[in-house]
Amino acid sequence: MLIKAPRGTYDILPEDSSRWQYIEKIMKETAEIFGYREIRIPIFEHTELFERGVGETTDIVSKEMYTFSDKAGRSLTLRPEGTASCVRALIEHSQYGGLLPIKWYYVGPMFRYDRPQTGRYRQFHQFGVEAFGSNNPYIDAEVIILLIEVLLRLGLEEYELHLNSVGCPECRGEYRQKLIEHIEPYQDRLCKDCQTRYTQNPLRVLDCKNEACHQAIEGYPTLFSNLCDKCQEHYAKVKETLIENEVSFMHDDNLVRGLDYYTNTAFEIHIPGIGAQSAVGGGGRYNGLVEECGGPDLPGIGFAMGMERLLLAVDKLGEKFAEDKEPDVFIAVMDPAYESQGMKILQLLRKAGIKAEKDYNQRKAKAQMKYADKIGARAVILIGEEEVEKGFLTLRNMRSKEQFQVDPQDLVRSVCKTLLID
Ligand code: HAM
Repeated sequence: MLIKAPRGTYDILPEDSSRWQYIEKIMKETAEIFGYREIRIPIFEHTELFERGVGETTDIVSKEMYTFSDKAGRSLTLRPEGTASCVRALIEHSQYGGLLPIKWYYVGPMFRYDRPQTGRYRQFHQFGVEAFGSNNPYIDAEVIILLIEVLLRLGLEEYELHLNSVGCPECRGEYRQKLIEHIEPYQDRLCKDCQTRYTQNPLRVLDCKNEACHQAIEGYPTLFSNLCDKCQEHYAKVKETLIENEVSFMHDDNLVRGLDYYTNTAFEIHIPGIGAQSAVGGGGRYNGLVEECGGPDLPGIGFAMGMERLLLAVDKLGEKFAEDKEPDVFIAVMDPAYESQGMKILQLLRKAGIKAEKDYNQRKAKAQMKYADKIGARAVILIGEEEVEKGFLTLRNMRSKEQFQVDPQDLVRSVCKTLLID
C-alpha cells in the first residue's frame, strides 16, 4: 500500500517553498528591526512543561498533544506552542540575569491533534515573539504593533484586532467564584468536558469550541467588568498607545484565549474571508508563567502567528511571488569525453555566483539544448570538438539565439555581459 503523509500534515514542495521563504523573510526582518533575536527551541519537550505552562484543563493539553514515551520511559510531547519552551530556555540558561527586557522570536512547526480543516493542521507553523522582563504597557503595545507591521508588510491591511484584559491573579480569584456561581444552575446543559472542568477552571467554559456551552451560560459576568484598578490602568495605557500609533482594534469582553498562562492584555487577530479558521495570530501577557515554571518572578508578553493561515490570506490578495529559480547558464557538452571539462566550468561559474547547471542524464547534444531551453537557462556554454581543439568556448544567448566564441580565461566576464544585455 502507498504510504501517504499523516492526516493533518502536508509537504511544502519546491514550487511552494518560495512563498514560505517570502513570508519568513518578512517576519524575521520585521522582528529584527524591533530588536528581537532568534531563538531555536527543541521540537519536543518534557510533557510536564506544557501541563504546567499551558494548563492541564486546556483543550491543547487535555486533548491535542502528541505525547509519547521514549525508550527510557520518559514522557515527551511534540511542542504544541513555543511560549512554554522559551520560558524553559530562559530559566535553564539563566538569561534573565543580564540586560532586560529579553526579546526573542522563533519560527517553526508546532503539533496539535485536532480535526484538520482549511487553516487547521496537525503539524502547522508559527512565527512567534516573546519579551521577558518588563511589565510596562508600552511593551504590550510594541508587541501588538510588531504583529500589525508584519501583516502590513505582507499587504494584509484588512484585519480585525480583538483586545481584552484577563486581569491578574487577584481580580481573577474573585471573578472565578462569581463565574462558577453563574454556571452552576446550567451545568447540565454543558458539554462533558465543561461539566467536569468548570469548577476547576471556569474560564475554559468561555473558551469552549462547543456552541451549546456558550448558549447555556449566556449573560455571564465578564472578567473585564471585574478588573482591579491596576489592571484597568494597564489596559487603558495599552489602548491609548495603540490609538496614538494608529492601530485600530476592538475591545472584546469575550476574548479569554485558549491557554491558561495569560494575565492582563490578551489579543487575537482575525482576517475575514479566509474560512472558519480566521485567527491568524494571538497572544498576550503572561506575568506568572516564568515563576510557575520554576524561574524568578519575571513578567512576559508575546504572540504567535499561524503561517498557513497567513499564506491563505496572502494568496487571497492574488499577488504572484517572484520566483527566480531558473539557471543563468547551462553547460552543454557535445561528447561525453568533455564532461569533466564541463564540470570544471560549472564550478568556476558557481564560485563566481552564477547559477549554472549541466546534464546528468547522458542526453544527446540536441536533447541537451532542448533541456536547457525547458529549464529556462538564459545562456548555454557549448563544448564540442572544435572548441576543445582550438581552445575556446561557445556562448549562446538563448533569447536572442546569438552565439559567440569566448576565451575561457575571460569566461565569467563574457557570461556576465551576455546575461546583463539579455
Ligand atoms: P494560539 O492562539 O494557540 O497561541 O496560536 C497562535 C496561532 O497559531 C493561531 O492564531 C493560529 O493562527 C495558529 N494555529 C493554532 N493552531 C493551529 C492549527 N491547528 N493549525 C494551523 N494554525 C494554527 C499560542 O500558541 C501562544 N503560544 C501565543 C503566544 C505567544 N502567547 C504569548 N506568546
